[in-house]
Amino acid sequence: MIRTTGLTKRYGSVHAVDGVDLDVRAGDIYGFVGANGSGKTTTVRMLLGLVLATSGQIQVLGEDMPRRRTSVLPRVGALIENPAAYPNLSGRRNLTLLDAAGPGGSRRTRNTRVGEALEQVGLAGVGRRPVKQYSLGMRQRLGLAAALMRTPELLILDEPTNGLDPQGILEIRELLLGLHAQGTTIFLSSHLLAEVEQLCDRVGVLDRGRLVLQDQLSAMQQPTGRVLVRTPDHDRAVTVLSGVEDATVLSGVEDSTVLSGVEGQQLVIEHPDPALLNRLLVENGVRVSELSPQRMSLEQSVLAATGNSADRIDSAEVGQARTEVTA
Ligand SMILES: Nc1ncnc2c1ncn2[C@@H]1O[C@H](COP(=O)(O)OP(=O)(O)OP(=O)(O)O)[C@@H](O)[C@H]1O
Ligand SMILES: [Mg+2]
Repeated sequence: MIRTTGLTKRYGSVHAVDGVDLDVRAGDIYGFVGANGSGKTTTVRMLLGLVLATSGQIQVLGEDMPRRRTSVLPRVGALIENPAAYPNLSGRRNLTLLDAAGPGGSRRTRNTRVGEALEQVGLAGVGRRPVKQYSLGMRQRLGLAAALMRTPELLILDEPTNGLDPQGILEIRELLLGLHAQGTTIFLSSHLLAEVEQLCDRVGVLDRGRLVLQDQLSAMQQPTGRVLVRTPDHDRAVTVLSGVEDATVLSGVEDSTVLSGVEGQQLVIEHPDPALLNRLLVENGVRVSELSPQRMSLEQSVLAATGNSADRIDSAEVGQARTEVTA
């Protein structure tokens, strides 16, 4: 659905995007993550032909961009940061104008299309109010409604939940999952790893313009080689485990009965085989209330691929400040 080769954008001495090879497949919900200033918006702009690449190739829906933009763009729904709208016109009027300006789309069904898009993003009640009275979150929803209007095959969304409250984020997540279930491929950028972890099945990680990781989310959530066991028979468990070859009990003091509602204390054991531990514990009369292999979070994978994230954000901001000074 999207394929780039060596995609690069330089602004003077700043490498905003640097040799990026994106591979977004049909049916993906692809999360494009990266710190502020890492190049997400610049990449999205290039995909849509809004900014020219310094070098590299782009294919969207199998066609070269930006050369084939007139046949590609009608099949793509897009939202880019701070979506523009006429402030004195209502949300409904803005969408109507946009629909009229685009190719295809019968005039007879225009009102229905606009109404459905407003409904989908939860703006049906305020569609007739002027956009200048909209909150940040409402403007963001209007931008999303614009992206949805022609039932696109591919959605390219730059920080779609920017400015939304937790309830709004949940609504948009459900909306996107619904569209995905109907066959829409979704590419979205975000700096919220927890959000991407809940929504996406494939992830690309951008670090200062470079794609440092691209894989299935499940592949990034690899087992850590540790097993979490909760048991009401703590002492007995430690005795049993101390006799197991290759097993190291790392901790086992925290009593989380109150917190989790599951009886017992949690043990963290370094061992490659959860099934073996489970069998040994149960065979030796230890009651196991919970047992799970510990997995890396997306955050841990991203930190491992990018190093110290705080430093990276600082250096990106320094880079940004420098370009503003020289501009
Ligand atoms: N028009 C421009 N002129 C000069 N530099 C630019 C321009 N647009 C972006 N940049 C620089 O390119 C880099 C990447 O910016 P970009 O907006 O793509 O990052 P981002 O990942 O979208 O960040 P954020 O999470 O803050 O939205 C930054 O260093 C930025 O300062
Ligand atoms: Mg951005």
